[in-house]
Amino acid sequence: MNILFYHPAGDKEGWLPLLKRRLPHVNIYPYQDGANPLADYALIWQPHKHVLAKQNNLKAIFVLGAGVDAILDQLAYSPELLPKNVPIYRLEDAGMALQMQEYAIATVMRYFRRLDEYERQQRHKQWQALPIYSYDQFIIGVMGLGILGKHVASSLSKLGFTVKGWSRSKKSIDGIACYDQQQLDEFVCGTKLLINLLPSTPQTQGILNANLFAKLADNAYIINLARGKHLIEQDLLAAMLTNKIKAATLDVFNNEPLSTDHPFWQHPAITITPHISALTLVDNSVSQIIDKILQIEKGETVANGLIDLDRGY
Ligand code: NDP
Ligand code: OXD
Repeated sequence: MNILFYHPAGDKEGWLPLLKRRLPHVNIYPYQDGANPLADYALIWQPHKHVLAKQNNLKAIFVLGAGVDAILDQLAYSPELLPKNVPIYRLEDAGMALQMQEYAIATVMRYFRRLDEYERQQRHKQWQALPIYSYDQFIIGVMGLGILGKHVASSLSKLGFTVKGWSRSKKSIDGIACYDQQQLDEFVCGTKLLINLLPSTPQTQGILNANLFAKLADNAYIINLARGKHLIEQDLLAAMLTNKIKAATLDVFNNEPLSTDHPFWQHPAITITPHISALTLVDNSVSQIIDKILQIEKGETVANGLIDLDRGY
């Protein structure tokens, strides 16, 4: 069996030694410019257009992350450069749900207890108690109730928050008021803090925009943990000028790394992290991928984590 590996950063994270240890009889090799042996499986992250171009023997492609937008964008723009009808799998959880939960709780609590404002007060040596938020006022909306969104929504609900969730198909989740794709307005209306965990697709790109912000509660908070393409940056800055949006925490950006002259860096009410809300854990991910490869090799159908190209996620 041949397995091709490609990551734009090379193998800093140590995928290849782990894969080789777990599959000692398999030929596992990194992509190289020029000729590469025909692979049975490809493990890739953000591939450039040549990585899979001549791979006509693939049984499956495994994306080394939860989001598949990078590879699907390529498919849309250069379909002739990717093998046809090969199933594409993405990582499901693989240790990311817990990290998202930690990040979301830390950020929600920072805003709920107004620690961001006390940080600003400290810089000005101001000693002033601010009114507290009540759990009833502080309605949280989670966009995307997939593996990560559902986990985040449930963990916030267990802390006592009123939590709403929005997804393409209607869900039924204990403690969460669930809305489907047609009910975006109802979902957004009155929401005080919005967390985005949608996949980036043609339907969801630009969804964090002025129209949506206008329907939130005044002085609302935005936490974008999914993709930079979801957010219309100018709309956020404009909504912050009018105090429609009070503060935002952004982990993902249209262009990463964020350019040093970007206005977000200096904005007093924007907190930036460098796409780390959930890092890919190599050990968990390798186990998940190998389990799937072994199932496919046995002739079993593997549905978990399979990307639906029409849906785009
Ligand atoms: P899932 O595919 O499990 O969940 C996606 C959710 O979004 C589903 O509930 C889906 O609805 C919903 N959805 C999709 N399209 C629409 C739409 N048009 N309208 C309403 N709801 C929609 O993904 P994950 O939870 O695993 O991951 C979510 C995203 O998080 C990833 O795509 C990735 O971009 C991002 N991510 C970011 C990381 C970071 O470090 N910042 C790390 C990992 C992931 P339905 O349930 O009906 O299908
Ligand atoms: C992912 C990511 O999609 O890290 O897994 O963004």
